[in-house]
This record gives sequence, structure tokens and C-alpha cells, in this order.
Amino acid sequence: MSEPIDPKYFRQVMGQVPTCVTVVTALVDDAPIAMVIGSFVSVSLDPPLAGFFCTNGSYSWEQLKKADTIGVNVLGEHQIDVSNACMRDLTERFDGLDWEMVDGAPRIADCSAWLTMNNPQISNAGDHEFGLYNVITMDIPDDPKAPVIFYGGAYRDLSTLDD
Ligand SMILES: Cc1cc2nc3c(=O)[nH]c(=O)nc-3n(C[C@H](O)[C@H](O)[C@H](O)COP(=O)(O)O)c2cc1C
Repeated sequence: MSEPIDPKYFRQVMGQVPTCVTVVTALVDDAPIAMVIGSFVSVSLDPPLAGFFCTNGSYSWEQLKKADTIGVNVLGEHQIDVSNACMRDLTERFDGLDWEMVDGAPRIADCSAWLTMNNPQISNAGDHEFGLYNVITMDIPDDPKAPVIFYGGAYRDLSTLDD
């Protein structure tokens, strides 16, 4: 019989899996919402679908679910401060950030990639939910920076992977 899974060790093991760092945004009741999401994943090319996992009980996720359109800001290696900003208290996440409404959602300046999505299909996933969305618009800047990644419990850029 297999041993029961130790949650701390599970977390440590999964820490070996590098993830992207995105900020998922929406404007809900005139208030901009931002949530840092590392589980963003492309799912299907035809139709174009992408999604992410959100922890049950997250206030931001409850707000994002109300939005007609959400934005996905893929952060570059120069934007660790943006991720840290979006981990502040809910009402302070946009303080000092350069952003504007684009295609119905808040777009943060200078991200490595930008998508808008709508029409979520939401399913249970243990203590998370999975939001599967239709991709509506996309953009990559002319000279995109390499993405920041999260790995081993820390932000890394590709040049620090040997550390
Ligand atoms: C790099 C990074 C990746 C994250 N990825 C996720 C994720 O995929 N899903 C999730 O639910 N929370 C994720 N979080 C945590 C949420 O961003 C954080 O709990 C957020 O404050 C939740 O908003 P809330 O306070 O409104 O619940 C991540 C945090 C960091 C720093």
C-alpha cells in the first residue's frame, strides 16, 4: 500500500516544476482586480482555449468569475516588482502600476504577452477550481522580454537558472 501524501512534501516536489507568472485582471463594478497566477496554461488550439486554477475561497477569483472579459498579463523577467505589487492587499494592487483598459480588461504595460478571454467553463479541482476560457484577443509586443518564471519557491529569470 502506498504512503499517504505529505502536503508539505507534495508542495516541495511541485516546486521543482517551473511555472509562468501571469497577472489575471478584470474590471468589476468599476474596480480593477488583479490576481497573480502561475497555473496559466494553453489548452486547445481549435477552438482556442486556455485556463488556470484558482484556490477555493479566493476573493479575487470570485470577482474574476463575474467579469465578462478577463485579461492575462504574462510577466517578463523585468517585472518581478509587478508580481509583488499584485500580491499586496486587494485595494492596493494597482497602486503605482502603469495600466490601461484594452479590449475590455486591464492591460499592464510592458508585459511579454497579453490575452483577453471570456465565456468560462468552471470545474471543480479538489481545493481549487479550473477556469477554462475562450481566447478572444492576443498580442506580443515588438520586442518582448523573456518571461519571469517561478521555480523552487523563487522568481527566476532564465539567466539565473544555473544558480
Ligand atoms: C508566482 C505565484 C503564482 C501563483 N499562482 C496561483 C495560482 O495559479 N492559483 C491560485 O489560486 N493562486 C496563485 N497564487 C496565489 C494568489 O496570487 C494569491 O493567493 C492571491 O492573493 C489571491 O487573491 P485573494 O487574496 O483575493 O484571494 C500565486 C502566487 C504567486 C506569487
